Amino acid sequence: MRRRLIVDTDSAVFNDDAAALAMLVQRRDLFEILGVTVVAGNHTVPQGAEHMLHLLELIGAADVPLHLGAHAPLVNTAERAARWEAEWGPIAFKGAFAAAAGVRPPHGGRFAAARPRSDDAVGFLIEQVERYPDGVTVVALGPMTNVALALQRRPDLGPRIRSLVFMGGNARVPGNVTPAAEFNFWFDPEAASAVLAAPIPRVVMFGLDITNHAPLHGTLFDRIVAADTPLTRLMRHDMGPRFDADPAATAYVWDCITAAWLIEPSIVTASERLPITVDATFGPTYGATIVDAGGAAHGRCVEVMLDLDVERFYALYADLLTRRVG
Ligand code: RIB
Ligand code: CA
Repeated sequence: MRRRLIVDTDSAVFNDDAAALAMLVQRRDLFEILGVTVVAGNHTVPQGAEHMLHLLELIGAADVPLHLGAHAPLVNTAERAARWEAEWGPIAFKGAFAAAAGVRPPHGGRFAAARPRSDDAVGFLIEQVERYPDGVTVVALGPMTNVALALQRRPDLGPRIRSLVFMGGNARVPGNVTPAAEFNFWFDPEAASAVLAAPIPRVVMFGLDITNHAPLHGTLFDRIVAADTPLTRLMRHDMGPRFDADPAATAYVWDCITAAWLIEPSIVTASERLPITVDATFGPTYGATIVDAGGAAHGRCVEVMLDLDVERFYALYADLLTRRVG
């Protein structure tokens, strides 16, 4: 039986949420993608939704329903981020907090024909978990606001989710937006903290510990975009300027490693079960991942993925992203 997934995403144009979704869609023999739920993070929800609808159309998957989710984190705001910066220094990336007003058409200048199925991603998550008890894997590729709201609305939901596989956090390495915090956890620390405390049977974390091991280099990027498909043209448009400006540049493809593991778990070569909590106190380490030295009594034990076979990962990535689709 195919594994049922809900992909909860903050919608990068291509790198990396859209690429991860494309990888999963290319393996619909393995997965039934029940829906895509959009959350604020990299982009605002209306803008992010347009990127994902465009991607779905491009890869012949316009039948996958998309639902709009939380437009803002539980507590964090642009104003808080500004206050944080005034106190403790620059934040490297503020995502939707720094977004321009309005919605621009995706690459190609045309909005996808399919429209969002609803503006209640949280209701959709709850309904699907109820429909398939113990049968839904939630793949969270952005801040965990939608998942937290679903658990808040229905506290009995946690044990009925088969597993939560997420990109976020940094157990033993520095953050990527502040010295202490990774973007998805930093954007909504309260949500990440609540979700990690919930009684979900299996929780798998793809934090910066593992994703830092696999930067994408220009040489492989060039080989992939040479395939010249609609998908690689989107990739070229989104990621090309970085490599044009500096051929020695690298790009992280965070969410794609999560997707790759779902497709081929043996690409992960090291993991540990660690008691993980999130610092949700507004201070210099807001959004930091805490590996609870006190043990599992405080933090929930999470499978923390730590290392991977980079060569096999990129072989899978290149194969799935250069296939002709549609
Ligand atoms: O820190 C990396 C994460 O933040 C990725 O999921 C990226 O897409 C952004 O959401
Ligand atoms: Ca993401």
